[in-house]
Amino acid sequence: MKKILFVASEGVPFIKTGGLADVVGSLPKCFDKEKYDCRVILPKYMCIRQEWKDKMQDLTHFYMDLSWRSQYVGVLEMEYQGVHFYFIDNEYYFAGPKPYGNIYQDVEKFAFFSRAALSALPVIGFRPDIIHCHDWQTGLVPVYLHDSFGQGDFYRGIKCIMTIHNLKFQGVWDMKTIQDITGLDKSYFTPDKLEAYGDANYLKGGIVYADWITTVSRTYAEEIKTPFYGERLDGLMRARSGCLSGIVNGIDYDEYDPETDQFIEQKYNARNFRKEKIKNKRALQRELGLEQDDRKFMIGIVSRLTDQKGFDLIAYMMDELCQLDLQIVVLGTGEERYENMFRQFAWKYQGKVSANIYYSEAMSHKIYASCDAFLMPSLFEPCGLSQLMSLRYGTIPIVRETGGLKDTVEPYNEYESTGTGFSFANYNAHEMLGTVKYAMDVFYSHKREWNKMVDRAMAKDFSWKTSAKQYEELYDHLLAE
Ligand code: ADP
Ligand code: GLC
Repeated sequence: MKKILFVASEGVPFIKTGGLADVVGSLPKCFDKEKYDCRVILPKYMCIRQEWKDKMQDLTHFYMDLSWRSQYVGVLEMEYQGVHFYFIDNEYYFAGPKPYGNIYQDVEKFAFFSRAALSALPVIGFRPDIIHCHDWQTGLVPVYLHDSFGQGDFYRGIKCIMTIHNLKFQGVWDMKTIQDITGLDKSYFTPDKLEAYGDANYLKGGIVYADWITTVSRTYAEEIKTPFYGERLDGLMRARSGCLSGIVNGIDYDEYDPETDQFIEQKYNARNFRKEKIKNKRALQRELGLEQDDRKFMIGIVSRLTDQKGFDLIAYMMDELCQLDLQIVVLGTGEERYENMFRQFAWKYQGKVSANIYYSEAMSHKIYASCDAFLMPSLFEPCGLSQLMSLRYGTIPIVRETGGLKDTVEPYNEYESTGTGFSFANYNAHEMLGTVKYAMDVFYSHKREWNKMVDRAMAKDFSWKTSAKQYEELYDHLLAE
């Protein structure tokens, strides 16, 4: 039995701010249980829902040195869907209404978490063969493992994987503070280790000291070796390209299944969507106060409202988009200027635009199930899960050809009748508009072609089956060395 430990800052169903949580919560249960014992360790944030906290059991607690401080570490555990979850408790660090806040607090919080996760292992009696780290919040795990922990018998030989879900976030703060927080020796803060452009960089540390690096699509794994996508670490990515691979994300096919989804008005499947899916559109139009019209082309957006997702293109084109014969339904939170932009257009085009500026699992499912198309014109996209959810619900993605969007959405070819969505290459608002118009034309004027595209979209398999195998192969490869 190979033992794997996921260390991450979020995971469904406990705590989620984005796709990272979906991956951390859904991948571990997809490994072959005969061969891999994959467990997960997360922070026990105060903002985790009480219903989950009630189910956690106290395992142990101890005090740990973090630089010159001595800190309380509580460890709780819980089994969920056959997977063992551990939670690190410390009410000083994990208080607050959200997992992340000010970066200067977060760098200390996640130094604590990374060190606590490692320190807890002998106490709970789980010695992983591989520690699989996710994003900058856990970037110090490979560093600490290389440092003091690696000296001890218990930890010697443990391999580390660093998965990059988003290279933009690196956990950067000034070197003096980070040295003080982490207790790491001065020698770690050089350009070949944690230092980058004069500051200390957690993710860089993780990338330097991990035995292998993955990212969440093949295209993104290539893109981050270039200056445009490399977020100033492209040189490092090129240097480490021999140990870098891209494994595309899957989604939880039980959670996202139009045939069993409890959140939606009318369940449907690949055989009866032509008749049944429309009932969801009707219900959503009613619920959101949109014009009641079965045949209206409805576009959905479910997203963090940030530049990454292409909202400056949408903002630029919004007035023109609203001149078209369509409806737009948005669900998201994020940058205030985008929140207000959508609120304004919902006011200006009542019955046509619906702005839902909040977070809701239920509403997201309704949108995936009700809309005809899903718009995601990202500037960059390591993988993207929303387009996979859309495909699963027969909602046709309109995307920019970048990262995981390029790898998962096959552009429509009207001559060969192939493809599962619409895409454009350049980050350009008019290209996006042209692509939306093209999709609209197929929807209104070639309905049979559109429906055949829905057939193809729903027939695609983006469950974890294939990608979980690829992670297993990577684990085997690292342990065979
Ligand atoms: P990212 O992780 O970059 O935000 P992904 O596409 O990988 O993008 O994952 C986003 C996840 O967050 C999806 O599960 C999506 O449905 C969900 N999501 C984003 N915004 C909201 C929201 N306002 N309400 C509910 N779910 C949301
Ligand atoms: C990040 C990326 C997104 C990816 C998700 C899960 O949040 O922005 O593209 O799907 O992580 O890997």
